[in-house]
Amino acid sequence: MLLLSWDETFSVGVAQIDDQHRQLIDLINKIHTARADGNESAVIRRVIFQLFKYATHHFSEEESLMRDNNYPDFQTHYKEHEFFISRLDAIATHFGQGEIQVAGETFRFLVDWLLDHILTVDKKLGRFLIEGDRAK
Ligand SMILES: [Fe+2]
Repeated sequence: MLLLSWDETFSVGVAQIDDQHRQLIDLINKIHTARADGNESAVIRRVIFQLFKYATHHFSEEESLMRDNNYPDFQTHYKEHEFFISRLDAIATHFGQGEIQVAGETFRFLVDWLLDHILTVDKKLGRFLIEGDRAK
């Protein structure tokens, strides 16, 4: 599987969100590289924790934007974030218990979820912010 690379199709039109999505993609690429290099579990665990921390930070920023602008689809969007965080938490726990590699299926989940979320749910939020001239 190739590394993910950012291009304009991922843009939601709001610079702050796009920048954070780039960071998330970088972290997922780091997991990919660590797997491909056969790195020890400590390295992979560190990146999974970084991803967990950064995703939590990013989601809370998006949620603040939604709340501040009375976004009508807040609940649906928030639930998606919660789902991803709970999956990441479970993955991090497995690593904490000594799992030594990220299974292909787990990695696929991270990639597929993030891309699907950006391209559908986050783009919808981006359109709402732009249309209402709420993107600052
Ligand atoms: Fe989101």
